[in-house]
Parts: sequence; structure tokens; C-alpha cells
Amino acid sequence: MFTLRDYKPYDESGIQLEIESIKKIYAGYSNVYDTLFKRFFYPRIKHAITYMDIKPGDRILDVGVGTGLSFLAFPKHCSIIGIDLSPEMLRQAREKIRDNNLDNIKLLSMDAMSTAFQDDTFDTVFISHVVSVVPDPYRLMEEVRRVCKKNGQVVIVNHFKSRNRVVEAVEKIINPVCKRIGWRSDLCLNEFISRSGLRVEKKYMLKKLDFWHILFAKNIK
Ligand SMILES: C[S@@+](CC[C@H](N)C(=O)[O-])C[C@H]1O[C@@H](n2cnc3c(N)ncnc32)[C@H](O)[C@@H]1O
Repeated sequence: MFTLRDYKPYDESGIQLEIESIKKIYAGYSNVYDTLFKRFFYPRIKHAITYMDIKPGDRILDVGVGTGLSFLAFPKHCSIIGIDLSPEMLRQAREKIRDNNLDNIKLLSMDAMSTAFQDDTFDTVFISHVVSVVPDPYRLMEEVRRVCKKNGQVVIVNHFKSRNRVVEAVEKIINPVCKRIGWRSDLCLNEFISRSGLRVEKKYMLKKLDFWHILFAKNIK
């Protein structure tokens, strides 16, 4: 279904070290991830997918698919590729595919900042709770823009730092701890939007006070 190109490894050892540490952290979460996080993450995942414009036959990339919390929210009429760094998280996702007969979903073990997909492969790219997990969110977005078709959809669910000064100060202080447990808390939404090169068409939170933003963007090339 997809032609893959050669994988390009990193030359920077710092990034490779961070990748190894992320793999270890998510190997640790894999068995308890749904129990710990589903109740917080699933409502926004479900909402974002419900409001995507998914046409029959569309190809969708689910970046950092994790345990596959998104799977049951997708319609059956599209084909989905989920990629993740963590073999243990992918194992949980594979079980969901098997238990629910989701034969329109395939999984690949791959680094989202340097994938093996050809240019312009996907109609839609979905990225939930991953932008602030990867070592370099801008390298991730460069790769997402490359593999997503021109004018394709990029839909992001993510935590960005608060615009409330007190909360922002707390987020800055706890950022080193957050990084140790698997994500950063200091990513600025406006900087992310301007540096990602996407045309953001909608951005909002599901509740007035929420930790996570939902962005619907177009991949202008
Ligand atoms: C917080 S979980 C989110 C999982 C899922 N998207 C969700 O919303 O429940 C972050 C996931 O991103 C994966 N991840 C982190 N860095 C990655 C990278 N560079 N490439 C692919 N997956 C990555 C982790 O292994 C983990 O499964």
C-alpha cells in the first residue's frame, strides 16, 4: 500500500540519547497508559477525529499512535498508519487492532521526526499528545509537512504553556520534572504555530479552562 524510502539516522548524538530515554519512559507506561490517561486524553481525541474531514479511501497518519486510544474514533472507510518509537506501546496498539478487527489500521515502528514515507503520502496527519514529547517539535512538523499532501489536514491535540503568568511560571519550574516523566510543559502555542509553517484554521480548547488545545490546520506547501 505504501512505498517506503531509506531511513535517515541522526548524526546528532544528543537527539539519539533523548530518543532512547523516551523509549524507556513509554516502555514503562505501556501497561498502565490507558488506565492512567484514557479518561483525560480520549474526549479530545474523539472530538478532533469526529470533526476531521475524512473521505472514503483517505490515508491517515497517526503520529506517535501509542496504545491506539484513537482507533475506535476513526471511521472504517479510511486507511490509517500508526507510527511510534516504542515497541511496548505498539504492542498494546496491536492488541486493540486484533481485538476489534480493525483491518484498516497498520502499525510501523518509526521515528516521527525522520520517517520512511515518500513525500505527499497522507491526506490527513493526526498528532495527539506527541508534539511536546518528541525531542524536537519543529523537526517533527517539518517531517509531517513533507509526508502530508499539499492542502492536506494536520490535526493536533497538545498541551501548550499557559498564557496566565502564574501558571506559566509554575510550568517553567516543573518542566525538568515533566521531561523526566515523558513530556515538556513549556511549549509556546504562538511560537509553535509560527515556526511549524502550518496554516492554522481553528484552534480552541474543549473547556474554558483546559490543559490541551485542539488545532485544525492546512498543510500549505
Ligand atoms: C503521550 S503518548 C501519546 C499517545 C497517543 N497519541 C495518545 O494520544 O494517547 C506519546 C507517544 O509518542 C511516542 N513518541 C515519542 N517520540 C516519538 C518519535 N520521535 N517518533 C514516534 N513516536 C514517538 C511515544 O512512544 C508515545 O507512545
